[in-house]
Amino acid sequence: MTPLTSGSSGPLVGRIRVPGDKSISHRALMLGALAVGESRISGLLEGEDVLRTATAMRALGATLIREAAPGGGTVWRVAGVGVGGLAEPDDILDLGNAGTGARLLMGLIAGHPITATLTGDASLRRRPRARAAEPLRRMGARIVARDGCRLPLTIVGAVEPMPIEYRLPVPSAQVKSAVLLAGLNAAGATTVIETLATRDHSERMLRHFGATVDVEATETGGRIITLTGQPELHGADLVVPGDPSSAAFPAVAALLLAGSDVTIEGVGINTLRTGLFTTLLEMGGAIEFRNERLTGGEPVADLVVRASRLAGVEVPASRAPSMIDEYPILAVAAAFARGRTTMRGLGELRVKESDRLAAIARGLAACGVSATISGDDLIVEGHDGPPPGGAAIATQLDHRPAMAFLIFGMAARKPVAIDDGAPIATSFPDFVALMNGLGASIARADRE
Ligand code: S3P
Repeated sequence: MTPLTSGSSGPLVGRIRVPGDKSISHRALMLGALAVGESRISGLLEGEDVLRTATAMRALGATLIREAAPGGGTVWRVAGVGVGGLAEPDDILDLGNAGTGARLLMGLIAGHPITATLTGDASLRRRPRARAAEPLRRMGARIVARDGCRLPLTIVGAVEPMPIEYRLPVPSAQVKSAVLLAGLNAAGATTVIETLATRDHSERMLRHFGATVDVEATETGGRIITLTGQPELHGADLVVPGDPSSAAFPAVAALLLAGSDVTIEGVGINTLRTGLFTTLLEMGGAIEFRNERLTGGEPVADLVVRASRLAGVEVPASRAPSMIDEYPILAVAAAFARGRTTMRGLGELRVKESDRLAAIARGLAACGVSATISGDDLIVEGHDGPPPGGAAIATQLDHRPAMAFLIFGMAARKPVAIDDGAPIATSFPDFVALMNGLGASIARADRE
């Protein structure tokens, strides 16, 4: 356990880069491992979740080498085995805290004639995996799991995976991606239909590695995605953009702390990920997107964020897929805003690394903020300035509420403590140093 506390901070001033995008990093290692030839990936998130995926891809037969990049940072060289070429691992694959790693790997394994068992930490073993298992079974895989389709879970992959047409019952980029990854080794076209568009990193990256992926937008905001099976994926170079879900934390901190002026360089601004920034702009946040460009098929910009007086807003349920991981930090921003913020359609937060809906409401209440759950909606009454704070928050192996409540403590009237900051390393290994470098005051609670 790493207890941390945050207290009166700021102003935050400076230029930073946040670590690479977690979703894109998992996918880059997996597709690199399936390509023929070498892929060079720079800007990879070297957080615990992604390192677990790297270990798993080695166990499945790919060669991954981490090297210092000539211009600083690291480059990962991945030599793949070709679609259909994954080897059976000789031991259990432990994905740690990584829900994305687990679901995407289920897809990869389901499409290969191999047997593998997946496990993870207490948080991952609590999370139901039935949503991914159902279509993969239809494609011919056998999946044996604990009650509620929980890990540890064994997949006996299909010898000849069947291409299917699958309508996602709930918007989920992970389930979509698991089906597409299994479809890579199926003879014919695999189609996924989504009623609301979710992050499309898999589709973009599959194309980048040489697959044919057709995407048709529906009139109601959904998409029909069709992958042509058994492509020859070729090694490709890739620069992973900064993770907008990580940039969210310094961005909100800069909005809340008077006098702040922070530039976050090279942040991914794929519109299927930027619902938080849209919402913060609606709340009156001063956020500018500068120097927009494309890297590795993904749009990127430098974000300039200045302290702002925020006002409460209504966030529609249709925006949830584009900011699904950002509600903990949005709820923090809402607590400081003028008036009420209503966030609709948050049912999915109950099955994240922890039950985030309950965790946010409980944490805000402990910090003196009125937060009510009504069905799948969350209603936060803003304080039009710093709320009391002064609470101790249990983070339950969940990195995002951990970071969100540390940001809360930086701008609240009294410090906020979290019982364990260790899970932050799953997505944002240098969070504390980077925030303190900007002017934050975050410290080990047991070393004061
Ligand atoms: C992710 C998809 C989302 C998100 C997760 C990463 C991905 O999950 O919450 O952190 O990389 O595809 P769902 O697919 O369950 O919505």
